[in-house]
Amino acid sequence: MDKKFVYADNAATTALSDTALEAMLPYFKNSYGNASSIHSLGYESKKALEQARKKIALAINARINEIFITSGGSESDNWAIRSSLLMSNAKGKHIIISSIEHSAVFRTAENLEQQGYEVTYLPVDESGKVSPEQLKNVIRDDTALISIMMANNEIGTIQPIKELCKIAREMRVPFHTDAVQAVGHIPVDVRDLNVDMLSLSAHKFGGPKGVGALYIKTGLALPPLIIGGGQEKNKRSGTENVPGIVGMAVALEEAVGKMTDNIKKVTTMRDKIVASVLQIDGATLTGDPVDRLPGIASFLFSGLESKVIVAELSKVRICASSGSACSSGSTELTRALSGTSMIIAETENDNAESTKYGALRLSLNEHNTDEDVDYIIQELPIVIRTLRSRKPSPLF
Ligand SMILES: Cc1ncc(COP(=O)(O)O)c(C=O)c1O
Repeated sequence: MDKKFVYADNAATTALSDTALEAMLPYFKNSYGNASSIHSLGYESKKALEQARKKIALAINARINEIFITSGGSESDNWAIRSSLLMSNAKGKHIIISSIEHSAVFRTAENLEQQGYEVTYLPVDESGKVSPEQLKNVIRDDTALISIMMANNEIGTIQPIKELCKIAREMRVPFHTDAVQAVGHIPVDVRDLNVDMLSLSAHKFGGPKGVGALYIKTGLALPPLIIGGGQEKNKRSGTENVPGIVGMAVALEEAVGKMTDNIKKVTTMRDKIVASVLQIDGATLTGDPVDRLPGIASFLFSGLESKVIVAELSKVRICASSGSACSSGSTELTRALSGTSMIIAETENDNAESTKYGALRLSLNEHNTDEDVDYIIQELPIVIRTLRSRKPSPLF
């Protein structure tokens, strides 16, 4: 292999697209005006900002004035959830989320619980899916918000968001979706889905880190989370990160433009990896076999520890992850995996309470090559065999 490493951790973050970098550069050095300044340099930044907003809106079929820039997925999620509860027409202090949300949603909900709000954590089935029927059953008169992610970051499962939204609308409850892993990778059309709020983050689709957006449907009076100078129509204060916003828009435009080809290419590579890894003893695919993100191949290996698998792969220059970037240092199974009933079912079937599962997520994108895939397929079985032949770690 000629490359320094094979990068299979695109769900954690992606390389910045060359086109996005080119588009960003002028706004670091020459066009550095504050977008709120009323001189020519400020106007240049303002113009770039509004062009970027237009591109982002177009990419998800939103109106331009429905796109609000944030510092990324975490802020968008926090804003949508916290501020929904503060809307003048909020129906009460109850929210519903799925049990496999990213920490930006899950921990926000836990934090709200500590402040006296009530949270229902919707279980998922063994493929990681929320049941629309179950959602219907847990909505209450005082439910102020439902937040269910579009695609899971650990197992790649895609939720039936359109169907879930329909239920929320019938029951007159605002619906937010964390689409951070979906936008730029699968088609996302906010009008077709009929969502009220949607979070996205640039660094997951070839844009820079530290910038994202929240889509807020026209008519939803979401109060601001960050208050100050009144930028973003008084909804999100703070001097705009113009280079970052330009980079996000250009990367998204590029990702959406190439989406059909990228889906085809990435799905083929993912399926080749899945077929090969499932030949390894004690390997199981996690997530939905069909409704899953093109780039995510996620597995469990019995008797092994996630972090050890990832570390061993790193030694052979494969960058992978155990699941969520925030939890990859943990020896515990991540929330999505322990949330899926698959783990429980398997443990019961094996009748082996002590069976441990090591999780591995290989996340690909269009920059991966067939050579990368062949290298992964060649090295992973060796790594698993080597680890299994070692003395058990004191943890087990
Ligand atoms: C599903 C999901 N939501 C939210 C986030 C947080 O986004 P950001 O890193 O832009 O704050 C991530 C990042 O890993 C994610 O995968």
